Amino acid sequence: MRNFDYFNPTKLIFGRGTVEKLREEVPKYGNKVLLVYGGGSIKRNGLYDQVTNILKEINVSIFEVSGVEPNPRISTVRKGVEICKQEGIEFLLAVGGGSVIDCTKAIAAGSKYDGDAWDLVVKKAPVLHALPFGTILTLAATGSEMNSGSVITNWETKEKYGWGSPLVFPKFSILDPVNTFSVPKNQTIYGMVDMMAHVFEHYFHLEENTPLQDRFCESILQTVIETAPKLLNDLENYEYRETILYCGTLALNGMVSMGFRGDWATHNLEHAVSAVYDIPHGGGLAILFPNWMKHNLHVKPERFKQFAVRVFDVDPTGKTDEEVGLEGIEQLRAFWTSIGAPSRLADYNIDDSKMDMLVDRAMKNGEFGVFNRLNAKDVEAIYRASL
Ligand code: NZQ
Ligand code: ZN
Repeated sequence: MRNFDYFNPTKLIFGRGTVEKLREEVPKYGNKVLLVYGGGSIKRNGLYDQVTNILKEINVSIFEVSGVEPNPRISTVRKGVEICKQEGIEFLLAVGGGSVIDCTKAIAAGSKYDGDAWDLVVKKAPVLHALPFGTILTLAATGSEMNSGSVITNWETKEKYGWGSPLVFPKFSILDPVNTFSVPKNQTIYGMVDMMAHVFEHYFHLEENTPLQDRFCESILQTVIETAPKLLNDLENYEYRETILYCGTLALNGMVSMGFRGDWATHNLEHAVSAVYDIPHGGGLAILFPNWMKHNLHVKPERFKQFAVRVFDVDPTGKTDEEVGLEGIEQLRAFWTSIGAPSRLADYNIDDSKMDMLVDRAMKNGEFGVFNRLNAKDVEAIYRASL
């Protein structure tokens, strides 16, 4: 293991009926609140009314930014920043999935910055201050509810980048599995792929002696694999939703990745695809990850063998590590296909006509990846294998 510091100040409030905890939490931070939400799912499932009724009962003044896009855009961040500055907002409340939370993080930091919030995303300026915010998560996927990262898209320039700061950890996050009942099947699938992908970004690292971290990672993968088909046949099952919601948070709140550096190349590859084509993040990951794995199997075949044997029960007898690893990758592809995830860019009608732009966006900050550094040729090879 490497030396490490671990810091996660987010208060996680988990379980049925926990939206009521807003009454205790919000007044700690102020009573001028900007409510941030997406395209209307929270109005359809009743959560919007529940939240606004509670806020009114505790005498909070409510301002709103709605219509946050999946793959949230800097244009929406700017709208939120303007309201915060004009109205003297004291606290932000994100109610939605990862996109709403990521947008809220950017509004929180952008409101305390004099220039354009995009500067913070592209790291032209450091995040020095941010408004406090809380979240009510409605979709199990990104882990944004308990981490300090955010991913924002600039649709005009077709760019999508991750950024983060210890100042944008949520103060609290309320996770009630019931609030995820209405997530449609396709978004439920993308969410489960995304959390598995977060585990893979951790798991394929070069450090030695991480036995506990390995088993944490493997247990999340096994739990998602075991629960996914049951949940997809019974979308309003509390126990399955609860299990998946908890997996999503644990997969990216730092708990399973202490003591090593994860890879994160596949996320970079996917962000470039969704920047150019606006596809769902989890869908893009399902297409790209097995191809990243095949491309990098040679780097540390024994790691892929461990994954194959422990997660998919591949029988290693009489096979090389690479053969076992490859079987594991094929099992992963088969599993994702079995639950309805896409497997080719063609599933989103993406061909190679914008290959140069994809490679350019992925290579924006030069070679990337920790498990194996990818150059432009590697990137193009992985995209081409994904067509
Ligand atoms: O906009 P609404 O109407 O709310 O509908 C959303 C949206 O259309 C819908 N939805 C959410 N909760 C629902 C629901 N529909 C019915 N019932 C509910 N309870 O689902 C759609 C997708 O929502 P979105 O928030 O975009 O999904 P997700 O949580 O997967 O977030 C994806 C974004 O997060 C970024 C991705 O790149 C992408 O931009 N990521 C953020 C990370 C982070 N901050 O740590 C890490 C991830 O790797 C990821 O990159
Ligand atoms: Zn992700």
